[in-house]
Amino acid sequence: MFALAERMKLVSESITLAVSAKANAMKKAGIDVVGFGAGEPDFDTPVFIKEAAKAALDQGQTKYTPSPCYPELKAAIAAKFNRDNGLPYKPEQITTGAGGKHCLYMAFMAVLNEGDEVVHPSPYWVSYPEQIKLAGGTPKIVRGEESNGFKITAHQLERAIGPRTKVFLINSPSNPSGVGYTPDELRALADVIAKHPQIVVFSDEIYEKLVYDGMKFVSFATLHPSLLERTLTFNCHSKSFAMTGWRVGYIGGPKPAIDAINKLQSQMNSHITSFTQLPAATALTDPRGAESVEQMRRQFEKRGRHMSERLTALPKITCPRPTGAFYCFPNVSAYFGKTIGTTTITDAITFAAALLEQNHVAVVPGNDSGFETHVRLSFATSMEQIDKGIDRIGEFLKKIG
Ligand SMILES: Cc1ncc(COP(=O)(O)O)c(C=O)c1O
Repeated sequence: MFALAERMKLVSESITLAVSAKANAMKKAGIDVVGFGAGEPDFDTPVFIKEAAKAALDQGQTKYTPSPCYPELKAAIAAKFNRDNGLPYKPEQITTGAGGKHCLYMAFMAVLNEGDEVVHPSPYWVSYPEQIKLAGGTPKIVRGEESNGFKITAHQLERAIGPRTKVFLINSPSNPSGVGYTPDELRALADVIAKHPQIVVFSDEIYEKLVYDGMKFVSFATLHPSLLERTLTFNCHSKSFAMTGWRVGYIGGPKPAIDAINKLQSQMNSHITSFTQLPAATALTDPRGAESVEQMRRQFEKRGRHMSERLTALPKITCPRPTGAFYCFPNVSAYFGKTIGTTTITDAITFAAALLEQNHVAVVPGNDSGFETHVRLSFATSMEQIDKGIDRIGEFLKKIG
């Protein structure tokens, strides 16, 4: 027997993987599946960024780099935080990681002691609890009720904070709910955190550029004078620049925390890929970067509006309108207890499995995000696919009645 580390028992197998594996198998078998599962833009990386990567290779940027990254990228990220977010980080307060995911994992490892609690809202991005547990922490989940647009209130936050609370983690706009907090709502949460100086904040701002219907984005660390010194701000190129495969993420924060993360990275993976670094800086500094992001944002805004309107027109489905990211998160619980073929629908997983099997639409069950009553649909796909998929969902709901 191959003996594994005890810590592997802490990490759960994704229960939603079965649905995506089945969808892929069906596609391979030539079945026309409408995929609403993808958590990535359907657009290609803007050409000028790809050209910069080709130039980086031609110029020999193929060797080891400093652990945080080349100084040019650090400077570009610091300038971006100052310009776009009003966060006065200096280059030495910046580091990078292999995507937002790796940045978050390194930060949990650097900050959490055994038994420390991380308070965070649900529905949540699937990797948070797993990363927290691996780093020795305990997730303490505060439910964002659908009736409140999946957002937690200051009162709920206050009640969740206890003597072991080390981190408050906030993700706005959110995956999977597609909902963003307004500046006032965030300020109310910041006021609570301000009263607890021992708490560190992780603000996952990776969807900051994808906001809709006039929604105003603010960075959490700007909301109270005491927060800058105890907040880590996370961002990445994955979603805004359609660069998921490049694995470029970054963190701004207090220097001691950034130094600790650099120490970790230097012993783990040394640094992110050398020839992605200057192109990543170009994406932030070249005006074509902001233009490309805005073009994609406009498309997402139209698609999100359309998808949520079509979803809420379906019988017994509720779905708050997405104000950010590229997800709709409808409630399908009115159909629990219905039977189709030999399957009884009891939760989002069985709903998603039956929908895929019967009408060939792939959605992500909310179970891994703490919501067994909801499914996530990504609108990072064409209007035609959105219409085709929602038509099929309508037929499926009619069938199960
Ligand atoms: C809320 C949230 N944070 C972090 C990440 C990780 O992003 P990356 O692909 O850059 O690792 C994702 C990706 O889906 C996400 O949705």
